[in-house]
Amino acid sequence: MKVLISRLFPVVAEQLLKKEGFTVISWDKDRPMSAMELVSNAKKVNALLCASSDRIDAGFLKTCSHLDIISQFSVGYDNIDVPAATELGIAIGNAPGAMNEATADIAFGLMLAVSRKMFAMHKSIIEGKWSYFRPTANLGIELKHKTLGIFGLGRIGMEMAKRCRGAYEMKIIYHNRTANPLADAHLDASLVTFNELLAQSDIISVHCALTPETKGIFNLSAFDRMKRSAIFINTSRGAVHCEPDLIHALESGSIWGAGLDVTDPEPMSPDNPLLSMENVCVLPHIGSATVEARDEMARLAAENIISYYKNGKVPHLVNP
Ligand code: DGY
Repeated sequence: MKVLISRLFPVVAEQLLKKEGFTVISWDKDRPMSAMELVSNAKKVNALLCASSDRIDAGFLKTCSHLDIISQFSVGYDNIDVPAATELGIAIGNAPGAMNEATADIAFGLMLAVSRKMFAMHKSIIEGKWSYFRPTANLGIELKHKTLGIFGLGRIGMEMAKRCRGAYEMKIIYHNRTANPLADAHLDASLVTFNELLAQSDIISVHCALTPETKGIFNLSAFDRMKRSAIFINTSRGAVHCEPDLIHALESGSIWGAGLDVTDPEPMSPDNPLLSMENVCVLPHIGSATVEARDEMARLAAENIISYYKNGKVPHLVNP
């Protein structure tokens, strides 16, 4: 069996596949494959191990309908037309769980960095603007006893909630389709409506999947219903917030600040107005970027393919 690895993933993926007797074609250039390159390479293999920024749409799937399995090096799979894959009988696997702690650390770090304007302060030193002690300048806001509102409390949201509870004794509220009994029992968290989440949270941290229901849900109307002192954090997918509306909300003061690890599009343009706002911190989608998380993601993604052929089962199957 032949597997295409679509970019430079941690070596553990290739090692595991080779150890199990697979022939591996690895894309080793320091750039993503073009759509045409992805198709022409995928035509040579039985299985594909790809990234969340590879576009696996209906057109690709139709052209490569010979693929048995596509296993993704991420928890999110909004780049894949799953119904089209299912229709064609292609199994889709993902790699959940590996990045819970790493991504929660980035959400927590962004919250703290925004609350104390850290990125802007760092930039001001580089720009030679550190002058004299001004007691009323550069003031941030404290996080102790604030209310954290989680939008989409699953495994990553749970880790973020634990950090906020432990470090700042925050009250935890969340909005989900269904209650999360672990959060209710261990963090005294409460399930609230979307409106209540917007109105009561001092910090809103987004941890949902990108779906037709969540796309653009943080729009002008949502930002208007948040506290003027609120901080908005998004480490899930950039399209969950509407960027022009976020810019407007920050400029008009309807919210206080924002921390983003995800944008739409990615990469963000260097002249994006968000990058010059004092109360905004942006990172280049590094939520899962730790050695530990990325190695585990590579292992899980490779195991999906190995197990598909060896046991007829995909441990993390998206389309059963
Ligand atoms: C994920 O696992 O979904 C991360 O955001 C990387 O794409």
